[in-house]
Amino acid sequence: MEQAYATVFAGMTRQGPGSERSTRKALSLLPPLPDTGTVLDLGCGTGASTLVVADVLDRPVLASDVNPASLETLHQRARTAGLKNRITTSIASADATGQPDDSAALIWCEGAIFTVGVEAGLKHWHSLLKRGGVVAFTEMCWFGTERPADAAAFLLGCYPPMTDAASLLSLCFACGYRLEAMFALPEADWWDEYLAQIVPAIERYRGNPDPDIQSVIAICDQELDICRRFGAAYGYVFVILSKV
Ligand SMILES: C[S@@+](CC[C@H](N)C(=O)[O-])C[C@H]1O[C@@H](n2cnc3c(N)ncnc32)[C@H](O)[C@@H]1O
Repeated sequence: MEQAYATVFAGMTRQGPGSERSTRKALSLLPPLPDTGTVLDLGCGTGASTLVVADVLDRPVLASDVNPASLETLHQRARTAGLKNRITTSIASADATGQPDDSAALIWCEGAIFTVGVEAGLKHWHSLLKRGGVVAFTEMCWFGTERPADAAAFLLGCYPPMTDAASLLSLCFACGYRLEAMFALPEADWWDEYLAQIVPAIERYRGNPDPDIQSVIAICDQELDICRRFGAAYGYVFVILSKV
């Protein structure tokens, strides 16, 4: 299934909810970073956030993902954006980056911490961060007490068990971080940025005979339907933390 996802999503410049505007907003909310130390963008995909982070921070960014094809697309995009000297890439899992302890000033991760689990990701990143180091990530959660059954069943099938923003923050605190800022991604980050790219991507593969591709298309069709009907009940939050 992972390969089928990679195939269908390959041409997408953004592979999860988010936007340049939200990335810039999160960057504007960062506390001062340690003067030295690396900037990592983990689960970077085709580089939607990497290009913005590298542009705004004027520091080298090491972007990593487990999908080499996405990293190749990121290289092309970095060249086009005139940022190729500021961005390097590596193939690595977000919970096993291979980076040294006490080496990172900032760890960025949009729409990908769920792939390793929030707790595993935050714990690994805590050792990588220098004193005063910062984490900025996005994660999906319930926005209130409403838990529509259809939405809950769908999300449970394709995402780790989902919590609410308060429980997410408690987990962050327990992993050794303090809160710097937090905001909900606006609805446009779903519909205008991510889902708008999913629609043509799945139409391109709708007649494809590969059963795994057909399963991915079925899940995407369901995702669109669930978002349309229950999008107010859940969404992504941007969380900015510093290492305690
Ligand atoms: C929803 S996409 C988000 C990609 C990108 N950050 C964006 O916003 O467009 C999730 C990404 O996580 C990557 N991924 C999957 N498993 C991973 C892992 N164990 N470690 C790091 N990234 C992983 C996928 O290849 C994909 O690029």
